Amino acid sequence: MTSVPSAQRVARRHLGRLYRGALRRALAPAALPAPRDLRRQQQEVDGLRREVQAAHRRLAELGASLDALPSPEQLQATAADVERRLEALDLLLGADSNRSTRLLRHHQALALAREVTAVTGAEKPWGAVAAAYRTAVDLELHGIARIAGGLTNVVGKLATVPLLRPPSGEVLEIGVLYGLFAAGLHRQLARTGAVPSLTLVDPFAGVQLQPGTESATDPTGSPVSETVARRNLALGGVPADGFRLVTGYSGDAAVRAQVADRRYGVVVVDGDHSFEGVRADLLWVQDLLEPGGVVVLDDYGDPRWPGVQQATDEHLREHTGLRMLGRVSTSAFLRRVD
Ligand SMILES: C[S@@+](CC[C@H](N)C(=O)[O-])C[C@H]1O[C@@H](n2cnc3c(N)ncnc32)[C@H](O)[C@@H]1O
Repeated sequence: MTSVPSAQRVARRHLGRLYRGALRRALAPAALPAPRDLRRQQQEVDGLRREVQAAHRRLAELGASLDALPSPEQLQATAADVERRLEALDLLLGADSNRSTRLLRHHQALALAREVTAVTGAEKPWGAVAAAYRTAVDLELHGIARIAGGLTNVVGKLATVPLLRPPSGEVLEIGVLYGLFAAGLHRQLARTGAVPSLTLVDPFAGVQLQPGTESATDPTGSPVSETVARRNLALGGVPADGFRLVTGYSGDAAVRAQVADRRYGVVVVDGDHSFEGVRADLLWVQDLLEPGGVVVLDDYGDPRWPGVQQATDEHLREHTGLRMLGRVSTSAFLRRVD
């Protein structure tokens, strides 16, 4: 007679099966990776370790360089010091006692050099531009009053004229003001070995005269006079026999008679800036030039003096004796070609 298993025995057997299954699974050996994979994983771990070490080193270096940075207080002190130095530079070269600044920016000098090359053909005009700048600054620091006009225009004229190799050092300037530009041109031409001789025409009327504008005391406070011009020419190193002053207007018969005793290698037209004034001056000076002589037309293309460009362009259309060489800043350069 088969006995019926008790419920207790059935439950014990079932539990026994579950227990043995769990024990078997727990004791089953884990699937081990192949030795080749183990080596690769080890290499990856080594690489990661090296990267972490390098990152630590870089962090340490960064920390050291951060420590070496000046503190905010030190930076403020340095900024204040630079400010003080700039104020001094501004007093020397800024617009305070002049009409415009004499601080030449690098990009302005580069643009000037490009223009000088276009007009003169000089391949390396940088030295000429730098020398012209030093001449202008030196003369204004030493001299009385100022050179007329913006810095790039002044430097452009002083750099360009010598590079055009005028046929002689005889210079005629119409419109002299304080004589400092004339002294600068003398120096720049002398640098090329020329022996400049200046004929300088101006009414020396105490103030700057300009048709269509009000004559007021110059911002420098200095009178436009023969005395000041002579002093500046001497301060600029122009010998007493290196210049003559002709007092009067370029249209005066007496002035024209005195000036016509010679031919000129360079003529600077910088007197009456009106259309009529420039037209009259150009007609007159064209025949005073030596062959190959150079005319400088100051303020050509300057919107404040439209008559300069209008009269020059009209003159070039109607007469063949002068050829336009080009423009540097706001001055045009012409050459006598017949
Ligand atoms: C722009 S300033 C000359 C600046 C000078 N060339 C320089 O670069 O410093 C013009 C001068 O020309 C003078 N002027 C005006 N009309 C003139 C004329 N017809 N003949 C000669 N000078 C004249 C003015 O009185 C003034 O002194």
